Amino acid sequence: MAAPRVLMVCLGNICRSPMAEGILKHKAQLLGLDVFIDSAGTSSWHQGEQPDGRAMEEMSMQGIDISNQRSRQFRTDDFDNFEHILVMDTSNKVNVLKLARNEADAAKVKLMLDYGNEVKGNSVPDPYYDDGFSRVYDLLDYACDAFIEEELQ
Ligand code: 4NP
Repeated sequence: MAAPRVLMVCLGNICRSPMAEGILKHKAQLLGLDVFIDSAGTSSWHQGEQPDGRAMEEMSMQGIDISNQRSRQFRTDDFDNFEHILVMDTSNKVNVLKLARNEADAAKVKLMLDYGNEVKGNSVPDPYYDDGFSRVYDLLDYACDAFIEEELQ
């Protein structure tokens, strides 16, 4: 069977989704899971840039190097290339769903924090303005474990 393909999505693709990509890749590697993981932003504001220095620092404290990632914008053909499109917040969800061409595209889009949490509809808070990178790490770490359990194992 082909490896499942997972795309993490946020606004800038320099804070939350690069962290989510790094965390899920790390866990998949430790578990020996064959899965392809990438990330993208709904905006092109940081196209080609490395993750935010604070995101890289938080991840490095957790033993994960995300310095080789580069920001890119979400595009319609991502619906063809990924089975799971995990958005960080409700506004990312609205923006990604605007590009969905049909029900099958739309059904691939899920809020990251709907995994592992009984209360649905919550967003990963944007750490860009408030420095909340360690909280974001904890939320993503928990949700990625639940995603692996529910979808990859
Ligand atoms: P991200 O955070 O969506 O988690 O990558 C942001 C990054 C940049 C901006 C906003 C949020 N910005 O306004 O440039």
